[in-house]
Formats: sequence, C-alpha cells, structure tokens
Amino acid sequence: MLHLSIQDQANRVTEEALRQAARAAAPILQKAQAGEARYADSQGWLNVDQWAGDAWLSQIEEIADRIKKTCDAFVLIGVGGSNNAARSVIEALQDGGGCEIIYAGNTLSPHALNAMLRSLKGKDYAVDCIAKNFETLEPGSSFRILRQAMAERYSPEEAARRTICTGTYGSSLEALCKREGYTFVPFPTDVGGRYSAFSFVGLLPMAVAGIDIRALVRGGREMALQLHRADAEDNLALRYAVLRNLYHRQGYALEMLACFEPQFRWFFKWWTQLFAESEGKDGKGIFPVAAEYSEELHAVGQYLQDGAPLMFETFLDVASPTDHLVIQPDGKQDFFDYLNGKDFWDINRAAFDATVTAHSQKMPCVILQMDAVDAYHFGQLFYFFQFACYLSGEILGINPFDQPGVEAYKKWMFQALGK
Ligand code: PA5
Repeated sequence: MLHLSIQDQANRVTEEALRQAARAAAPILQKAQAGEARYADSQGWLNVDQWAGDAWLSQIEEIADRIKKTCDAFVLIGVGGSNNAARSVIEALQDGGGCEIIYAGNTLSPHALNAMLRSLKGKDYAVDCIAKNFETLEPGSSFRILRQAMAERYSPEEAARRTICTGTYGSSLEALCKREGYTFVPFPTDVGGRYSAFSFVGLLPMAVAGIDIRALVRGGREMALQLHRADAEDNLALRYAVLRNLYHRQGYALEMLACFEPQFRWFFKWWTQLFAESEGKDGKGIFPVAAEYSEELHAVGQYLQDGAPLMFETFLDVASPTDHLVIQPDGKQDFFDYLNGKDFWDINRAAFDATVTAHSQKMPCVILQMDAVDAYHFGQLFYFFQFACYLSGEILGINPFDQPGVEAYKKWMFQALGK
C-alpha cells in the first residue's frame, strides 16, 4: 500500500486547509472517477482490465515465453511513453530470470546506436518496435537499422519471426507487419504513451525480462479500486494533486521527486515525463525534476538547503528493507568505527530521516511511503501517479492527455531532413 504524509516545519499547508481544498476539488474527482466523454480517446487506462485483463495477460505471457525460449536479448525500440514504464520496472527488478533487455529507438546518436548494435553481437535476439504514431524519428530510424542487422544474421523467415510491432490498428506499422509477416500487437488507441504501463506497451517487455506482470497489474487494479471508491478528503491521489497545486500557488514552481533507493533511477524518468508532458502547457505547470540520494546531496544539496526557494520535494520512501549489508570492524584506524555492526539499510534510513528534517526547515516535504520495491508496488505507483496527474491537470486547468508543444521542434527538424 501507499501512504502519504507531509513534513514541513513552517506548516505551509495545514491538514484542515488540505481537507478544505480537497472538498472544493470533489467535482473534479467525481468526474474522473466516472470517466469523461471529452477524454474518451485518452482514458483506456482508467480501467486497468481494459488493456491488462486476464485474456490480454495470457497473450502477453505466451509471446514472452516464445521469446525467452529463443532469445538471449530483446530490443525494446521506443521513446518517451513507449519505453519509460517498462524500463523503470526492468532496471529496478530484473534479476536474471528473463532475456537481457537492450534499448533502442530513444536516441539519434550514432555513437549510442553503434554501441547498441555491438551489444547484440553473438546474441540471439528479437525486437519490439513500440510506436503509437509510427512517424516518430527515433524509433522509426532504429527499427530500420535493426531490420538490416537482423537481415545479416537471420533468414528472412527467421527475422520476421523475431520481429514484433506494438502499434495502433490501421496504422502504417500494422500494414508493414502484414506485408512482412511480423507479429503485430495493439498499442491502445485510447491510451497515450505516458499512460500505457498497463498494456502491451509496458507489459510485454517486462514479461520478457521475467517480471511478474500479474503482480504488477494486481497492484494497479487495487490502487484503481481504492482511488475510484474514496471520497475527496480521504482520496490519496486527490490529496497529493491538491497539495502540489497549493504549494505551486504559494510560489513553488518545481517539484523534486527524491529517493534514497537507486532502484528508482529509471522510474524518475517515467514520472518526470508523465508530469512534464501532461501539465506543461498553456503557460502553466509544475516543473518536475528528480534526484537520486544520497549521491545528489553532494551535488544539488547545497542549493536545496540554501539557494532560491523554488521547489517542494516529494520523497519516495520504502518501509521494509530492500537488502542487508553489515559493516564489520577491520582494525585499521580510518575513523569510521562508529559504523561498526551497523546495517547499510539503517545507515541509509538515517540519511533519509536527516535529509527530510533538514530540508523541511526550508521547503515543504511530502513523503510517499510504500511497503516494498516489487512489481506489485510499481503497479500501485503507476496507477497512483497517472490518476493524480489527471486530477492535478484538471486543477491546473489544462488537458493532461495531449502534448501539442512537442510538435514545434519536429516541424523544423523534418524540414531540415527533407521529410
Ligand atoms: O506520452 C506520449 O504520448 C509521448 O511521450 C510518446 O510516447 C512518445 O512521443 C513516443 O511516441 P510514439 O509511440 O508515437 O513514437
């Protein structure tokens, strides 16, 4: 389960003020719980079972099992919402049970692309080109070089057997699959990339990596039930959405997501994209940034404690130990004997508690605690933040599901490339 608490020595938002603001936002919550007709083309994720029900999961597992039997590696071709959810879970939880996952389609750097191709040498692999709109330059260009690499290694029939595309029905990607005999699986037409964790987009790469996708979906489903049942004052997602907007109105322009567990390194990317692309529009939005502690305390820590008061901080906190490692005495005089017999879990916790105490003198600190880092809790986190982002966007007065600003640079880029 997830728990939300606030630590703020200046008490900038009291519990009563939060409850009052949540009550005022109740109509937004009720509309979101019911689903809104004006967002019908973007809300396929609201009901987790729509794209991650049992029948879909069986299909995903069947394809994943076939890949695991014949491949050492699996190339996830995708950018932004087409790769972030899968990558955040795989990089956090993969323990050698499935294929190695190699990422492509997220860069135009020849250096990175050549390194990616070199990493495939001597391995048997399959590729999954994940693209909702198969016009995006990064996945489209990577898919082409990977098709060419596969043509050098495999017969045309074998290469086709090893090629999967996750695209929308009726798209040019589906047409390509039909012509070339690739496996085609659906990218939900009613789900945007950054909301697509509970679909083929997020779940197939996770399953190939050996992640327990049923536990992840269960986590999402249970969080959905909780958020769709709870009323405004006690609704975890609404409380978070309201709180961040109250801080924003007090002048905090940025939210920093922080965690003392490096397993969340890639989740930070997912979270940053979710909020930046959903909220940053019409001249509005809370700018999302992330920091991996304790390392970043030696980089941005000075600014946070002493610099301009730009941000509030949201900590992801894990309640139960992720691992143990006890420091043993070694008889050398290094002046670290005060650590003798201590577990790194407790040392890391002490750093967490100390940081929250120090930072909360300067800025509001929100703590989102989960019981463990596992597939179930990733499912909870995905649904919680997706729903909270939707509510927060509504409070801000923007459409949380489109991304018109992303098109501006593409116009100039495609012109330069002669598209
Ligand atoms: O969340 C989004 O909608 C975007 O980040 C997309 O996922 C990203 O731009 C990739 O788009 P596509 O899957 O169409 O290549």
